[in-house]
Amino acid sequence: MSVEERLSEFLESHYECFVKKWSENVLVSSNDPYRSEVLSNGRRMVQLVITFLRADFNEDLLKELAFKVAEERAEAKVNISDFIYNVNLGRSEIFKHLYDSKISLLELQPTINQINSYFDQFIYYAVKRYTEIKDEEIKDTKTFIEQTHQDRLTLLGQMASSFVHEFRNPLTSITGFIKLLQRENPTLDYLTVIQHELEQLNYQISQFLLVSKKEVIGKEKALFHVDHLVKEVEMFLYPTTVDNNVKVEVNIEPTLKLLGYRDEFRQVLLNILMNSIDALKLVYYDKAISIQGYKHEESIYLAVHNNGPVIPQEQIRTIFEPFVTHKKLGTGIGLFVCKQIIEKHNGTISCTSTDERTSFIIRLEDVLTKEEQSKTSSSL
Ligand SMILES: Nc1ncnc2c1ncn2[C@@H]1O[C@H](COP(=O)(O)OP(=O)(O)OP(=O)(O)O)[C@@H](O)[C@H]1O
Ligand SMILES: [Mg+2]
Repeated sequence: MSVEERLSEFLESHYECFVKKWSENVLVSSNDPYRSEVLSNGRRMVQLVITFLRADFNEDLLKELAFKVAEERAEAKVNISDFIYNVNLGRSEIFKHLYDSKISLLELQPTINQINSYFDQFIYYAVKRYTEIKDEEIKDTKTFIEQTHQDRLTLLGQMASSFVHEFRNPLTSITGFIKLLQRENPTLDYLTVIQHELEQLNYQISQFLLVSKKEVIGKEKALFHVDHLVKEVEMFLYPTTVDNNVKVEVNIEPTLKLLGYRDEFRQVLLNILMNSIDALKLVYYDKAISIQGYKHEESIYLAVHNNGPVIPQEQIRTIFEPFVTHKKLGTGIGLFVCKQIIEKHNGTISCTSTDERTSFIIRLEDVLTKEEQSKTSSSL
C-alpha cells in the first residue's frame, strides 16, 4: 500500500474526530446566514483531500468548492480573513493527527507537501473569486452613484430650461413695451439702463438654454461680418468697460466673414470679454483688452487678449470644464458654453497665459472660397 493510500485510510477513520475539533474552534458568526454551510464546506474539503490522496488530484472539484465558499462569504458580507483562518485551522488539525498514523516523517513528507498544496490552491481560488465578486460590487455601486448623479443633473437641466422658458416670454414683452415707452417718451430717464439690464438677463437666459441644449439660438446658419458683430458686442459692454476703466482696442480685418449661428458667436465673445473684464478688476492701472480678427492660411482667428493676472497652467487645463469657477458668484459655465459652440462650428478654442497677458484664441475653418464670398456679399 502506498503512503497516500495508508494516509487516506487513516484520515478516513479519524475523520469525525478532527472535523469535530475543527468545528469547535472555527470562526463563524451566529448570524451568518451560511453558518451550517461553513461546517459542511469544511467537511467537504477534508473529503476532497482524502479523495485526492486516494485517486488523482482533480482541480475542477477543488475550484467548484472554492467558488461556492467565496460566493457564500461574499453574500454573507464576511471578511475573507475569517475564511483563511478557518482553512488553516483545518489544515493544522489534520497535520496534528498525521503524526498518530505511525508513518515515519520521512515517508510522510511528500504527502504533507501534497496536502499543503491542496489547501493553498483552495485558498487561492476562493480568495480570487471573492475579490472578483467584491470588485464587481464596487463597480456596480460606482455605476449606480454615477447614474443617479447623471439623472439628477439631467433633471436639474430640464428644470432650469423650463424655468428659463417661462422667464423668456414675459421678458420679450417687457422689452417690447420698453421700446414703445422710449419711442413715446424719448426724454424719459433710466429707460436705457432698464433696457441694458434686460439684455443682460436675456444673455444669462440664453446661456442656460445653450447648456441645456434645448434650443439653438439664431435658428439658421448665416454668413456675417465679424467686425460688425464685435462692434455690437463692444457697444453692449460699453457701460461695463467704462465703469471698470478698461480700454478696448479692436482690430478686425474688415473682409472677415464667418458662416454659423451669429447669436452663438455673440455669446462666445460676451463670455470671453466678461471674463476679461472680471480678471482686470484685479489690475489697478492700464487695464486693456485687445480683440483681433485675422485670416491665416486656411483659418480664421479671433483672439481676445487682456493684461490681467496670469492663469496658472494647471487651472488652464480645467477652465473649459462645466462648473469650474474661481469666482465667488460664478457658475463656471461661460467657457464651457464657448467651447461647445466653437466645436459645434468645427473650430477650436484655447487659452495661453503669461505674466504679461492672457489670450483666448479661437480658430475656425475658412470654409468660404473667394468666389462664394463675393457671391454672398451682395446679400449682406
Ligand atoms: N481672462 C481671464 N483671466 C483670468 N482668469 C480667467 C479668464 N477667463 C476665465 N478665467 C478663469 O476661468 C474660470 C472659468 O471661467 P467661466 O467663464 O467658465 O466661468 P465663470 O466666469 O467663473 O462663471 P460664469 O458661468 O458666470 O461665466 C473663471 O472662474 C476664472 O478663474
Ligand atoms: Mg465667465
